Amino acid sequence: MEFKKILITGGAGFIGSHLVRLFINKYPNYHIVNLDKLTYAGNLSNLHDIENKTNYEFIKGDIVDASFINQLFLEQKFDGVIHLAAESHVDRSISNPLEFVMTNVIGTVNLLNAAKANKKEDGFRFYHVSTDEVYGSLGETNMFTESTAYDPHSPYSASKASSDHFVRAYHDTYGMDIVISNCSNNYGSFHFPEKLIPLSIYNIKNNKPIPIYGKGENIRDWLWVEDHARAIDLIFHNAKKGNTYNIGGHNEWTNIDLIHLLCKIMDKKLNRAAGDSAKLITYVKDRAGHDLRYAIDSSKLQNDLGWIPTLQFEEGLEKTVDWYLNNEVWLNNVTSGDYEKYYKEQYSKR
Ligand code: NAD
Ligand code: TYD
Repeated sequence: MEFKKILITGGAGFIGSHLVRLFINKYPNYHIVNLDKLTYAGNLSNLHDIENKTNYEFIKGDIVDASFINQLFLEQKFDGVIHLAAESHVDRSISNPLEFVMTNVIGTVNLLNAAKANKKEDGFRFYHVSTDEVYGSLGETNMFTESTAYDPHSPYSASKASSDHFVRAYHDTYGMDIVISNCSNNYGSFHFPEKLIPLSIYNIKNNKPIPIYGKGENIRDWLWVEDHARAIDLIFHNAKKGNTYNIGGHNEWTNIDLIHLLCKIMDKKLNRAAGDSAKLITYVKDRAGHDLRYAIDSSKLQNDLGWIPTLQFEEGLEKTVDWYLNNEVWLNNVTSGDYEKYYKEQYSKR
């Protein structure tokens, strides 16, 4: 189908800003509307380089506000939505689950309702961006496939699982054209420093302890954020209605091995003696309900649409470190004020 006007929600966040940039530059004939509440995680400076492009429009707004969302859909006549707006951090979901229900569940249903009420006869697609965390936790073997049963453990993953179910329900019940993708952990530029990699870069740079939950043996599958954005682009344009795709990097790391690699890169970049940064590693109390291992089988996406991750992890991590060291102003801005309060609340009692 032909797209003219696309709504991207959460476009000022980490993944959303990469996706908005990709669409603005690749599809000059599309009109891209970025709807974002600008929570602590949303930042317009993530989009500084494209903010004056003629095919780009930013609207500040809350997906939890149903009447605002309905009015927006009525006025704008979108023919596609790529929905990324969410509360995204597991530790915050443990402290405040309701916020996650509001944004991730109610916000998603508000968007689905608005899309249904303003159904465009010449086609409309609702793309829901989700996480591999809905599948729960793996043991030492196996991988998540698209048919793995949902088994979420954290309030974050429970809220994302719920929103995935609602999106599928709108396909099954009302015939809505939906697609869903479930992706593994992303890394790259503009990542808010509450997540493991940017938090550790920030702490190493400032000679602060690197907090490792439990024994550091939990495993995540890391994917370069721009490879995720490319996958979303491919799926949005080519997937058959009602389909789900898993997206992952085939790149599993225990947290402690990842941090040792990061410390090695940081030593080099900061001209420190080998082993200096690793001295900051500090084992702290484990996260409640901490999932042991995530690993994604993305062969369906590879076979159907020819997607493969492009960037090797060591190279991607080094590029990420370079970006953070070269973007001090961004890092200082996002770590001032509320961030210090958050950090104290999360880490002072660990
Ligand atoms: P993020 O926290 O960096 O950004 C979320 C964005 O949503 C922010 O710009 C924020 O301002 C906006 N937002 C939050 N609440 C809102 C509301 N009520 N109304 C409008 N906007 C609101 O998140 P991210 O890491 O970029 O993740 C984006 C999406 O991708 C999420 O749906 C997340 O579940 C999913 N995902 C993330 C990862 C990952 O590794 N980060 C992996 C797989 C899937
Ligand atoms: P995170 O980046 O929060 O992503 P997610 O929980 O969505 O996978 O965490 C990645 C892994 O790193 C996870 O196993 C928890 C662990 N972790 C730490 O050990 N210390 C930290 O300070 C943080 C934020 C995470």
